Amino acid sequence: MDFSKCWLDYQPIECKEKAFSTLSVLCDGRVVKSAVEEYCLAMEAMTGAVVEVTPEGGRECVSLRLDAALSGADSYEICREGDGYRITGQSESGVLYGVFEFLRLVRTGHLASLPLVNGPEMPLRIMNHWDNMDGSIERGYSGNSFFYRDYEILCDERTEQYARLMASIGINAVVINNVNVHQRETYLITDTYLEQVKEYADLFGRYGIRLYTSVNFAAPMELAGFDNCDPLNPEVAQWWKETAAHIYEVIPEFGGFLVKADSEGRPGPFTYDRTHADGANMLARALAPYGGIVIWRCFVYNCGQDWRDKKTDRARAAYDNFIGLDGCFDDNVILQIKNGPMDFQVREPVSPLFGGLKKTNMILEVEIAQEYTGQQIDLCYLLPMWREILDFDTCAAGEGSTVRRIVNGELYGQKLCGMAAVINTGDDYNWTGNDLAAANTYGYGRLAMNPSQSSESIAREWTALTLGGEVEDTVTQMLMGSWSTYEKYTSPLGIGWMVTPHYHYGPDVDGYEYDRWGTYHRADWRGLGVDRTPAGTGYTDQYNEPWRSVYADRTKCPEELLLFFHYVRYNEKLRSGKTLIQHIYDTHFEGVEEVEAMAETWRQLAPKLAPDVYGRVKERLERQLANAREWRDRINTYFYRKCGIPDEKGRKIYE
Ligand code: GCU
Repeated sequence: MDFSKCWLDYQPIECKEKAFSTLSVLCDGRVVKSAVEEYCLAMEAMTGAVVEVTPEGGRECVSLRLDAALSGADSYEICREGDGYRITGQSESGVLYGVFEFLRLVRTGHLASLPLVNGPEMPLRIMNHWDNMDGSIERGYSGNSFFYRDYEILCDERTEQYARLMASIGINAVVINNVNVHQRETYLITDTYLEQVKEYADLFGRYGIRLYTSVNFAAPMELAGFDNCDPLNPEVAQWWKETAAHIYEVIPEFGGFLVKADSEGRPGPFTYDRTHADGANMLARALAPYGGIVIWRCFVYNCGQDWRDKKTDRARAAYDNFIGLDGCFDDNVILQIKNGPMDFQVREPVSPLFGGLKKTNMILEVEIAQEYTGQQIDLCYLLPMWREILDFDTCAAGEGSTVRRIVNGELYGQKLCGMAAVINTGDDYNWTGNDLAAANTYGYGRLAMNPSQSSESIAREWTALTLGGEVEDTVTQMLMGSWSTYEKYTSPLGIGWMVTPHYHYGPDVDGYEYDRWGTYHRADWRGLGVDRTPAGTGYTDQYNEPWRSVYADRTKCPEELLLFFHYVRYNEKLRSGKTLIQHIYDTHFEGVEEVEAMAETWRQLAPKLAPDVYGRVKERLERQLANAREWRDRINTYFYRKCGIPDEKGRKIYE
């Protein structure tokens, strides 16, 4: 187990089929070349035999072919042929994905499942890096950036390994800098850095990955002395056209721009009384001649709120800002929408924009970086959450209008759509801080490739590849229960927040309550929760039926989201028959017990694990336990003090 290689640590295997040691390569190209290199590297490490690579076909070999007629972009077929195997890709990327799949089957002992035909379901499978050029990572919990150090771009072995890791899980687009584009990063699209950015683009290109940058909407002001960046100012538009032309001159395969505008202090079109469509289209027209795209984020809300104002609701903001623009965006614009209406909390309803927009390209944005879900100290396997989001039926065009069918392009026939994720990697030895947090990185890619795969089978696959088959059942169980456990000891029933301001780790129930960010829980001596029904902020009206009525009705609202939608008194009964306050007490005690059990399970695995892996995760679990206890005590004490209702079971709650 060498965690510096993550899930690409090829260990020796028993099975030594003769065919493995001959690779017939009946196609070519730079991505095919990467596939061949990966195959040889892997087989040599696994079997000890040197692989012979030949342009000839043959009976006892593994052969690589291209067949553009295979259905589905970048799909692949793997089957037996003669005494060997044949891997056919629809494209070069298809060949590469096929090779990675084949190696996975060999490593997990699943070659018997052949033949198989597979391919990426989501057209775009994007990683968003929130890396800054000073080397820091916004919301990074695993060291510093491996892209930048002291404003220099690093292109080294780790970047190469990164590209391999990404390709192995099907990622085909990477945004190399933080959505908050600071001063120096604004220059990434200029000659100051373009040649080095090109090195990245070339490296990624060898693995079928396109490179994108986040751009500063005010770049014409910061870089070229303009006194405005009004998207309808022809000179501003012209500047972007020239800038794009130059970028493509240097990097013909450049993917395009990701933009955070009019959000948390970032510049945008609102300053000039223009719409987000004006802003996005202006950039899109600069990129269109070269096939580039604009990915425009919908994370736009008023971050200067007054806590006494109960009508303004941050949850409403994305929908209110964008729904009126449906159909106004150019074809090469995609809106990137966070999974929920707030901000990556442990539990949120699905953003109503997915059920609202019908004539706009959409990407679902999730956060692998565990900003609000334990910061890669606490174990929180996020696949079950993402599955629920993808499976949510928006009812936008009748039953079965799931988020999955919207972002895979099926429902509205869109080509530019898919998933994007804020990645959780850094320059830590094991890439993700907590060794087990890499299951989320791996799982995200696998899910975007094939959302039919269950969270559990992805957990199994990752565990078998990284920790070995012996611990597969137990670690899979730990992973599968971890989201629910985290939810139990943190903020209850969908209300979210209650975290330490700014850092977002650990409890501070009122930390954000009287602040300007629009993240309120509204607890008082009688109860807590936000009334988002028509009698309150009216947020529930943003959903299609039946959700609109379901969420607005206290008796029908899914209980895990109860406090997100309703203000509930402490002594009101939930479906379980428990009062709200007793539910809060119970789940918080349970959450801690579950972490204790998890730590004990891990202790028992010690003999089956490499000592360094065991030790690193043990240390994380100890910190998680301390965190869970602190959450339990702070939450229970806070609500006990507010309502004065004691725990029925008489457990210790601090007074
Ligand atoms: C969160 C996060 C910020 C980030 C923002 C975003 O609010 O805390 O660090 O910039 O999301 O998604 O843009």
